Amino acid sequence: MLEGKKFILGISGGIAAYKCAQLTRLLVKEGAEVQVIMTKLAKEFITPLTMATLSKRPILVDFFNPENGDWNSHVDNGLWADGMIVAPATANTMGKMANGIADNLLITTYLSARCPVFVAPTMDLDMYKHPSTMRNLETLRSYGNELIEPESGELASGLIGKGRMAEPEAIVEYLKAYFKKKANKDLDGKKILVSAGPTHEKIDPVRFIGNYSSGKMGFAIAEELAERGAQVTLVSGPCALKITNSNVKRIDVVSAAEMNEACKNEFSNSDVAIMSAAVADYSPVEKADQKIKRKSDELSIALKSTVDIARGLGEKKRSDQFLVGFALETNDALDNARNKMASKNLDMIVLNSLADTGAGFNVDTNKITILSQQNKMKEFALKSKAEVAVDIVNELVGLL
Ligand code: CTP
Repeated sequence: MLEGKKFILGISGGIAAYKCAQLTRLLVKEGAEVQVIMTKLAKEFITPLTMATLSKRPILVDFFNPENGDWNSHVDNGLWADGMIVAPATANTMGKMANGIADNLLITTYLSARCPVFVAPTMDLDMYKHPSTMRNLETLRSYGNELIEPESGELASGLIGKGRMAEPEAIVEYLKAYFKKKANKDLDGKKILVSAGPTHEKIDPVRFIGNYSSGKMGFAIAEELAERGAQVTLVSGPCALKITNSNVKRIDVVSAAEMNEACKNEFSNSDVAIMSAAVADYSPVEKADQKIKRKSDELSIALKSTVDIARGLGEKKRSDQFLVGFALETNDALDNARNKMASKNLDMIVLNSLADTGAGFNVDTNKITILSQQNKMKEFALKSKAEVAVDIVNELVGLL
């Protein structure tokens, strides 16, 4: 996967710089080319001679060679690379990357790079946890940079916790998986509608009926689809999540009725629709204009059923369209899911059973079973929602 790929390895000044010797060796062994750029402090942790020998190229530190005035063009380097790895990324270097403080060749190259950037932080325990580090990491993520999470273990200070730079083998695995995914554009040109999150049904100006859905599953699916080349429209109920992929058009809605309107409008222009939202089944008949005051011991609010969005799309579905639904069940999970698939005219249904620990709302993991036409069924292990999204999309691609 890395054969012929060109990498800039930006080394900043942390003790984990010693791991860059092994990282470079592994990359070269995979058939990649490596151009090392070091900060001045990095040279104190690992010698330029070691890095030049392993990378088979002179390393770069300064903007120009003081001996002959040769310019080390950060722009050319930035354009040359298929990927830039900043490892170890110290708090200082990440702060400069996040804020565009271009006082060394590593940062000017970073600012000029058009390729994906992989950041492998290294830090002591409390430095890593500090709000400024967290904010810088968030900023780098928002620029689309890939974060290769540090590992937990004994740190140089003797403290134990998160902050050790990922091992070279883990970094190489990360890069392989990234480029494999990039080559895997199996949804190129497909238009896909995804609904996600809860809906809020207004009771009065300060209250609503909602549910515990965080939107994480639907957002992870939207990101995965977009990574694989699809043009995604994400209709999202109220949730605090962000989408990073620019191939996702996001439409924010609040109520089931608004979600229905948005999904109906988008569906005719979609090849696939994935309904992962936890839509309220009932909404207050009256929505009070003024705050409802406490008057008696009991209060009843009359509710009327909302539109079933998935069912509506199922009724309109053309033969060239594919409709995926979700089922969240507490009992008789398989039977209920099969019935939902039939009654809503779905082509595939993703079942989450609340009987499984780690599945369902407001957690980072999920355990699913996928049912499709002709009584096909596939069970999956408990995984992170990002990994579950990959399974769902793989299954979808297989069925399309
Ligand atoms: N759904 C929808 N519109 C609704 C309710 C549900 O589009 N008003 C969709 C969900 O997004 C999901 C599927 O229908 O893809 C099943 O949702 P679920 O809440 O499990 O089922 P319901 O049909 O609401 O049935 P019940 O609540 O009785 O289990």
